Amino acid sequence: MKVICVENEAAVGKEAARLISAMIRLKPDCNLGLATGTTPMTTYNELVRMYKEEGLDFSKVSTFNLDEYIGLDADHPQSYAYFMDEHLLSKVNIKKENTHIPNGKTLRVDRTCSAYDKKIEDRGGLDLQLLGIGRNGHIGFNEPGDKFVAETHQINLTDDTIEANSRFFECEEDVPRTAITTGMRSIMHAGRIVLIATGESKADAVHAMLYGEIIPQVPASLLQLHPEITVIVDRAALAGSSLADSLFSAD
Ligand code: PGA
Repeated sequence: MKVICVENEAAVGKEAARLISAMIRLKPDCNLGLATGTTPMTTYNELVRMYKEEGLDFSKVSTFNLDEYIGLDADHPQSYAYFMDEHLLSKVNIKKENTHIPNGKTLRVDRTCSAYDKKIEDRGGLDLQLLGIGRNGHIGFNEPGDKFVAETHQINLTDDTIEANSRFFECEEDVPRTAITTGMRSIMHAGRIVLIATGESKADAVHAMLYGEIIPQVPASLLQLHPEITVIVDRAALAGSSLADSLFSAD
């Protein structure tokens, strides 16, 4: 694992966008695995800036999002489909047919999940997966549990995730209780992984991911086994890790 610690959220976004844009320039028809949430917003802002000011070309890029709430239409303002359009997909020259997000309104969840995995596999897998991390150590919506789940699947969201995500909804009762998430296989098979984390609320999860035992109770801990992962954090998210002492001792 390579860990890059930068000053703040904006710098995390710049660094992550730099790695993603390098992938797009090296392989214009790359498959990107994308994430939603507050953390990737600065990354997407920077990618949009690169498209507008530097001609970063998304015309051959394909994207596969990690997850979607079950029950929300793509045009629901809290759906992840809506989020992606708002923050990235409608702002760059990507082709709509090349963008993929699990269908939260499906009537056949099992079939939707297996078709999603097949689509990723048929396209040759993900070249780069962007990940956030939940404060409970989840990646995508792979919540802490008794085992790592390989395939795309339906998940019951934990109380902690429902509470954390309620900030996007009018009240906690409005947060969907279930979601579709890609599983650990497509994530772990990605050629490169870029994980971003900011703020002190993520410090425990980041510490457990970097130094903890590899256990399904901390889904992100499995990433220790990936050969090409870059973790980009701000100072607050690294607080409490022994890396922080060495990185900040020059101050
Ligand atoms: P956040 O979510 O970026 O909104 O904190 C990250 C995650 O839950 O994976």
